[in-house]
Amino acid sequence: MSYNLLKGKKGIIFGALDQNSIAWKTAERVHEEGGQFVLTNAPIAMRMGNIKTLAEQTGSEIIPADATKTEDLENLIEKAQEILGGQLDFVLHSIGMSINVRKGKHYTEQNHEWTHKGLDVSAMSFHRVMQVLYQKDAMNEWGSIVALTYMAAQRVFPDYNDMADNKAFLESIARSFGYHFGKKKNVRVNTISQSPTPTTAGKGVKGFDGFIAYADKMSPLGNATAQDCADYTITLFSDLTKRVTLQNLYNDGGFSNMGVSEEIINKFTEE
Ligand SMILES: NC(=O)c1ccc[n+]([C@@H]2O[C@H](COP(=O)([O-])OP(=O)(O)OC[C@H]3O[C@@H](n4cnc5c(N)ncnc54)[C@H](O)[C@@H]3O)[C@@H](O)[C@H]2O)c1
Repeated sequence: MSYNLLKGKKGIIFGALDQNSIAWKTAERVHEEGGQFVLTNAPIAMRMGNIKTLAEQTGSEIIPADATKTEDLENLIEKAQEILGGQLDFVLHSIGMSINVRKGKHYTEQNHEWTHKGLDVSAMSFHRVMQVLYQKDAMNEWGSIVALTYMAAQRVFPDYNDMADNKAFLESIARSFGYHFGKKKNVRVNTISQSPTPTTAGKGVKGFDGFIAYADKMSPLGNATAQDCADYTITLFSDLTKRVTLQNLYNDGGFSNMGVSEEIINKFTEE
């Protein structure tokens, strides 16, 4: 169903790799709601994924950019404004990567070069994107910027490894930059803390199957899907949430406020 929530709005969507990506589902929803956007991803992802299909489906252009490179971001943000014909109303940062997670390095045995790279890709890139948007005055008044995060920033999930630290940094950047962007242009900046979701990035976490099933059984409404996340994000891009800013917003079926659930108790109760 479409509510025309984003009619006339323009933006950039980072991180659509394949049909499972949260950014992919969000791009489809933004399109349904009347928004226009440029799609972007790291040059290597152009070869790995199938972003071209999404571009055709949504009538959008793709501009490759490595989110760790300022010059790529400058080019992206300039071109996006040319293509879309003006300043931007929304930006989705849906980027995450840890080499330690990918290569199965234990948290206590990190390769710090890899840690550094993961921090750059997953957290510092958010600052970099916003700094370029800010310096180029690329956002419209009352625009909205959203990044995706996970609750391992607040609570311990051992297998989330160094991504937990990256997410804590990301959430802090949302607040700190959100202040400056709010003061300058009434632009809001929030993070959505999403349930475990079966995507390329998600499935890379060790023990993901157990992890996602546990979260589902703990949450009164069950895990939020990528589609649920897309629905939530369009509300944050719409004019209906104008004064929601500097927040970390849980889209997790209630998981973050649970202690224990009946299903989990039953699993540990002997007959
Ligand atoms: N899947 C989950 O369980 C889950 C839960 C909470 C939050 N998140 C977050 O959601 C976001 C999107 O991940 P997803 O689950 O859709 O997985 P995904 O693998 O589909 O998306 C991750 C994206 O990051 C992109 N990326 C990696 N390095 C990049 C770089 N240098 N420059 C630009 N882009 C780069 C990848 O190409 C990919 O498109 C991430 O921030 C992730 O941490 C995921």
